[in-house]
Amino acid sequence: MSAPGPDTTHAHFNLPARLLHWTMAAMILVMLFVGIGMVSSISVRPVLVDLHRPLGIAILLLACARLFNRLRHPPPALPADLPRWQAFAAHASHWLLYALMFAMPLVGWGMLSAGAYPVVMWSGVSLPPIAPHDPVVYAVLRTAHTWLALLLFATVLMHLAAALYHAWVRRDGVFPTMARGEDRAASGPDASRDIVAGKPELSNRV
Ligand code: HEM
Repeated sequence: MSAPGPDTTHAHFNLPARLLHWTMAAMILVMLFVGIGMVSSISVRPVLVDLHRPLGIAILLLACARLFNRLRHPPPALPADLPRWQAFAAHASHWLLYALMFAMPLVGWGMLSAGAYPVVMWSGVSLPPIAPHDPVVYAVLRTAHTWLALLLFATVLMHLAAALYHAWVRRDGVFPTMARGEDRAASGPDASRDIVAGKPELSNRV
């Protein structure tokens, strides 16, 4: 039996993909601001740290479900007239976002493990360490957590800018593929003009 090939018969992301996208978008934004709050406030730090750990692990679990769904259900093709560099930027940034959705929680979990801190989810429930107790490993992972968070911030902002560019400037039907479960053909007179149905080698697939 062969692996599932590109599916060009649909024009929007499936329901699990859309639910995971918007839920995780909100969770990741909350996490970024909770992280900043944690390191810049002493008074609210304990509450925020208690929120940060389980929410981060929830993002890791949802990222697993999302990757599984993404591999089983390839996304709709990008418009065929999208400049090649923009299609490349879309593919690269989407895979970078996937990588960061895994890396951020794993680095956070790993750094607490290396620092010999308990990775408490909620009262009485802790995760096992995933890294050896080592101050050097802790220092490396602690720094990585900050830099990866900055990279995630920047990538999320670029992703948002690109989504709005598709929605408001190009109006090419890309935004509704994630915003609604509606076919591109139904979202505007010219919206479906460039979908390369049935030509996977020409479609700008993520
Ligand atoms: C998508 C997941 C995550 C995001 C977006 C995220 C984001 C952040 C950000 C922005 C900071 C502030 C960084 C700084 O200013 O240096 C931070 C700090 C921190 N994160 Fe995460 N994080 C995630 C997952 C986790 C997980 C799963 C854990 C642990 C289980 C964790 C533990 C920590 C700790 C302990 C700090 C503060 C360390 C300190 O104050 O010294 N993070 N995180």
